[in-house]
Amino acid sequence: MIIDYKSPGTLEQTRYEKIHSVIFDESKEASRIVANEIAILIRKKQKENESCILGLATGSSPISVYEELVRLHKEEGLSFSNVITFNLDEYFPMKKVDTQSYHHFMHIHLFSHIDIKPKNINIPNGELDFNKVNSHCNEYEKKIKKLGGIDIQLLGIGSTGHIGFNEPGSNYSSLTRLVHLDYTTRNDARKAFYGIENVPTKAITMGINTIRKSKRVVLLAWGQNKSKAISKAIEGRVDPNVPASFLQNHKNATFVLDKNAASNLTRIQSPWKVGDVKLTLESKAKAVIWLCKKTNKSILNLTESDYNENYMSELLIHQSPYKINLEVFNKIDRTITGWPGGKPNVDDKYRPERASPAKKRVLIFSPHPDDDVISMGATFDRLVSQGHDVHVAYQTSGNIAVSNSDVLKFLEVFSETSKNVKNRYQELIDILKKSNEILDNKEIRNIASLIREKESLAATRFIGIPDSNVHFLRLPFYETGTIKKSRPTSLDSKIIRNIISNLKPHQIYAAGDLADPHGTHKVCLDILFDVLKSIKEKSFMKNCWVWLYRGAWHEWEVHEIDMSIPMSPNQVLKKRKAIFYHQTQKDNVMFQGDDNREFWVRTEDRNRAIAKTFHDLGMSDYSALETFKRHHF
Ligand code: F6R
Repeated sequence: MIIDYKSPGTLEQTRYEKIHSVIFDESKEASRIVANEIAILIRKKQKENESCILGLATGSSPISVYEELVRLHKEEGLSFSNVITFNLDEYFPMKKVDTQSYHHFMHIHLFSHIDIKPKNINIPNGELDFNKVNSHCNEYEKKIKKLGGIDIQLLGIGSTGHIGFNEPGSNYSSLTRLVHLDYTTRNDARKAFYGIENVPTKAITMGINTIRKSKRVVLLAWGQNKSKAISKAIEGRVDPNVPASFLQNHKNATFVLDKNAASNLTRIQSPWKVGDVKLTLESKAKAVIWLCKKTNKSILNLTESDYNENYMSELLIHQSPYKINLEVFNKIDRTITGWPGGKPNVDDKYRPERASPAKKRVLIFSPHPDDDVISMGATFDRLVSQGHDVHVAYQTSGNIAVSNSDVLKFLEVFSETSKNVKNRYQELIDILKKSNEILDNKEIRNIASLIREKESLAATRFIGIPDSNVHFLRLPFYETGTIKKSRPTSLDSKIIRNIISNLKPHQIYAAGDLADPHGTHKVCLDILFDVLKSIKEKSFMKNCWVWLYRGAWHEWEVHEIDMSIPMSPNQVLKKRKAIFYHQTQKDNVMFQGDDNREFWVRTEDRNRAIAKTFHDLGMSDYSALETFKRHHF
């Protein structure tokens, strides 16, 4: 290692870890440090008149590292003239010019912006005849060897635990070769290929042995989706079914993680097991909830021996088990309220929201046009029926998620209404009839946006807010006409700042999703957080509380929850109906994730599951719950 990463944790904290790992708050900061390590090595080699051999990865994980390398080249004169690169892998068969090829990816993100010599770029060739692949792989290996091996190998990790395209079951001594891709890997790639059926079933990849021989390995992982694979690789045994675990045998490997990817590591998940007992109420709650699950008991039934027998005796140094139980029980119980906007004219000392002002201005930010009802439909409904002035702002148009057949259906309906309309739309109808792919056509995308806006209005009218309280922001970063979004700019922030400054809300609700750091929800959240920071000194912001909800995929952990809104069976049904107004997002939704359940089923399951968890912990038995975490800015 040629750079001093910040402290990886004490020996005791990391005693379950078999790979050196560093955890950062944000992937941006981590990427900057990794890019810096690479830059230091390139410069050192330049001074010594040597080539620097880099092993490179594709995928979402290294993008910010490449951005920083490009910045270092453009702004700080870092030259890549002595750099020779070897990419980990390429789909097979795959044409270089295809936008899904790793060849294309590397040029878009790195090679076209730096002064690397084209002859120094090596990427497995997906264009070869099948019978030439074997010798190509052998040549690839020989070339790396001849150059003295890879100096730094960058890696991502798949949700299967793969590195490169070495899927579960890969051999420790495998070399560069043609492999068959795992279903999960193909499913993870389906977005870029407009459906799993178009994802190639094969790829050429460097082997585990090729990777292991690199002098230095840096694996990057961001987001909660990676947390399970990461903890298995770092803390589990070396297992061919988790190929990244082979790196436990590498002498100079570092896993660079953001806190979400690290969330399953023992030092984060159950820190008391590694002697890290911070006595904050939240950390006590986390420990007690874990103990309830482990012992199958509710909070108030936990005994001294339950604590002692489960590595938690240190918690009892300052407090009796009875006191801890009660304190944690009250913390969770007090999150429950039927009054998300605050209960007027009562003592609010132990309530999640303030009693006054009795009528609040509320601004719900919804990244896509439907997250509002999917994630907090019942809370939304309560806020309206309790007389608050509720506004919804849909941050993006969500137009990419409207299928061509839905746009076609609407166009065919208009076209039947008049000849003029028919003439106007015939060309679009013809295009739509021929394609299943997302079409980068302004008019089609606009119609798709309008469809989603009208569906949203149907839902907000059903909940009972005037159309004037519904704001369609169509943030520009989303409007690329393709799945890949552009980077947010000051224009996106300005739109968010304006709506907050105009409404001066007492409450803001926003999607606090952290699962996918490059996903739309996270981008929307980052824009909002930046804006909040920039306006926090304004007087109206002193009265503004921000509540984060979770999207369709993940739930807050119980110890993180600050407000829980119970739902009666009827409210569950009403929420379901509100979601149904988003018809284009029903059935074969384009971006369903790994989960084939429809959104309304997912959210109902999630709301019921958290209510059951509360009940198991000893709280009242509710049909379902929507939960929120307060964000202090
Ligand atoms: C890419 C590669 C893969 C990815 C992994 C994670 O060259 O070999 O192993 O690193 O699938 O992909 P992302 O970073 O997109 O989550």
